[in-house]
Amino acid sequence: MRGSMAATALGLRVLVVFGVVVTAAAAAGGAVVDGLGVNWGTMSTRRLPPKVVARLLTDNGFKKVKIFDADERTLRGLAGTGIETMVAVPNDMLAAVCDYDRARAWVKDNVTRYAFDGGVNIKFVAVGNEPFLKAYNGSFDRVTVPALKNIQRALDEAGHGGAVKATVPVNADVYDSPPDNPVPSAGRFRADVAGTMAELASFLNRTGAPLTVNIYPFLSLYYGGDDFPLDYAFFDGNATSPVVDGNVTYTNVFDANFDTLVSALRKVGLGRLPVVIGEVGWPTDGDRRATPALARRFYGGLLRRLAARRGTPLRPGARIEAYLFGLIDEDAKSVAPGSFERHWGIFTFDGRPKFPLDLHGGGGDRTMPTPAAGVEYLPRRWCVLNPNVAAADDDDGRVADNVAYACSRADCTPLGYGCSCGGGGALDARGNASYAFNAYYQAQGQVESACDFQGLAVVVDKDASQGTCNFSVQVVGSPAPPPPVAAAITVGAVLALLLVLV
Ligand SMILES: *[C@@H]1O[C@H](CO)[C@@H](O)[C@H](O)[C@H]1NC(C)=O
Ligand SMILES: *[C@@H]1O[C@H](CO)[C@@H](O)[C@H](O)[C@H]1NC(C)=O
Ligand SMILES: *[C@@H]1O[C@H](CO)[C@@H](O)[C@H](O)[C@H]1NC(C)=O
Ligand SMILES: *[C@@H]1O[C@H](CO)[C@@H](O)[C@H](O)[C@H]1NC(C)=O
Ligand SMILES: *[C@@H]1O[C@H](CO)[C@@H](O)[C@H](O)[C@H]1NC(C)=O
Ligand SMILES: *[C@@H]1O[C@H](CO)[C@@H](O)[C@H](O)[C@H]1NC(C)=O
Ligand SMILES: *[C@@H]1O[C@H](CO)[C@@H](O)[C@H](O)[C@H]1NC(C)=O
Repeated sequence: MRGSMAATALGLRVLVVFGVVVTAAAAAGGAVVDGLGVNWGTMSTRRLPPKVVARLLTDNGFKKVKIFDADERTLRGLAGTGIETMVAVPNDMLAAVCDYDRARAWVKDNVTRYAFDGGVNIKFVAVGNEPFLKAYNGSFDRVTVPALKNIQRALDEAGHGGAVKATVPVNADVYDSPPDNPVPSAGRFRADVAGTMAELASFLNRTGAPLTVNIYPFLSLYYGGDDFPLDYAFFDGNATSPVVDGNVTYTNVFDANFDTLVSALRKVGLGRLPVVIGEVGWPTDGDRRATPALARRFYGGLLRRLAARRGTPLRPGARIEAYLFGLIDEDAKSVAPGSFERHWGIFTFDGRPKFPLDLHGGGGDRTMPTPAAGVEYLPRRWCVLNPNVAAADDDDGRVADNVAYACSRADCTPLGYGCSCGGGGALDARGNASYAFNAYYQAQGQVESACDFQGLAVVVDKDASQGTCNFSVQVVGSPAPPPPVAAAITVGAVLALLLVLV
């Protein structure tokens, strides 16, 4: 599907027709858009049982999943499903697997162990997660490529090399365009990691593995503020200020960003290196533009394009493999990048679809994904501020102190300005306190001692939800272990995206 731009117009029409035929067939068979996967993160105060999540994946037709470690419980959940899985070596293990014996042990423990009939269909090992993120100050720059080489060598020696490839998911901040020529064709790798990226790309080219990149139009919008035109984040093709790059006009930031990477790869002689989108998505709460309506618009456009195999201007007609971020909300993620971090799921924490989304890419966006089956909830009980407490005169600050305590250990992000329970008078101060107390009580599995707050709180059996603000009842699930030290942060592709835009 390569060729001159002149040939593309005709090529596209053929592709569109073809796309419709393919999607209709796929929808009938229940499979998602070809190449579509999803990220399954587990940073939640209480985790849904892995088998329930695995069934959520298969019921919705997902054939690919990406996880952030090689957790045994998660992998047991995936066993026997046939779902192609990308497991990961977390950043805090990169230095260790620079020792080849450790790499070999990792592969034995986390790949070979599941390589049997009815085991896990592991296809990729992600070595690190956004290791060159600027925020990491270069901590992983020297260990990532050696770790990658060791993991691939260990895969090869264990006989998995043909089927399982090691890759590195990078953040889009590893490339950008110069400020004085902010167009995709001027893309290049960020100066401090340019050498490392060239070495990485050349190694992936040798092994036949793709480069994995995370691209977040939402973050361009979030960090770009009001200077970033809203329409440019979507795929409607009617951005008011498109980016003109020679004879190509970019109407959305996803294409512009992807092609900036393609240009950077061309500069190191690897313009054809396959690229997989490791994360792409839109959150639904925690910011005024993190809403189900905008998420629906974003995903609808994204899935229609992936299904139509339009590729991007520099890779017209390319099949793009992309993993949505993410499957379910994770209420224990770090909110350092923003409150939206805990609301990336296309499903709620308990596996209910949040908005219509046609995963088959057929063009309609009225289909609701299939909810999780077999979810068990804790009893229908809520923890609220005791009605006898006069919250208005919280003279000694006891209510405020207890709310702060609850919110430091549970998710209160929906209370923020512009969020589902914040602003607009959704909740008064009493409602606010009750929300916080309930969030903590649920996260603690409704143990009695978690609804005390120095005598300020009581358990009630009448749903405490108010309007659009849902006071959740948690699921029966295993409490999550404490988050790892180098907690995954999804920070943006910010600079590259902004530069491409200006
Ligand atoms: C667009 O420009 C590129 C190089 O700048 C050239 O290879 C290509 O043929 C051009 N396409 C059209 C349709 O003019
Ligand atoms: C396998 O992966 C798990 C989960 O990520 C990790 O805790 C464990 O240390 C790994 N095994 C080895 C031998 O490195
Ligand atoms: C990176 O450096 C900044 C500024 O020096 C510091 O605030 C931050 O904690 C550092 N981050 C890491 C992961 O070392
Ligand atoms: C590596 O890149 C070269 C040049 O683009 C290409 O010819 C070759 O097929 C690539 N190798 C693999 C394994 O993809
Ligand atoms: C952009 O296009 C979409 C449909 O493709 C339409 O619903 C929307 O109103 C348009 N927006 C603008 C600003 O033209
Ligand atoms: C509710 O709590 C949030 C977050 O703690 C705070 O920003 C907001 O001002 C509070 N609203 C009221 C009415 O107390
Ligand atoms: C609130 O969450 C519960 C699960 O905890 C769910 O059953 C209910 O439908 C939700 N309500 C709304 C309005 O989303």
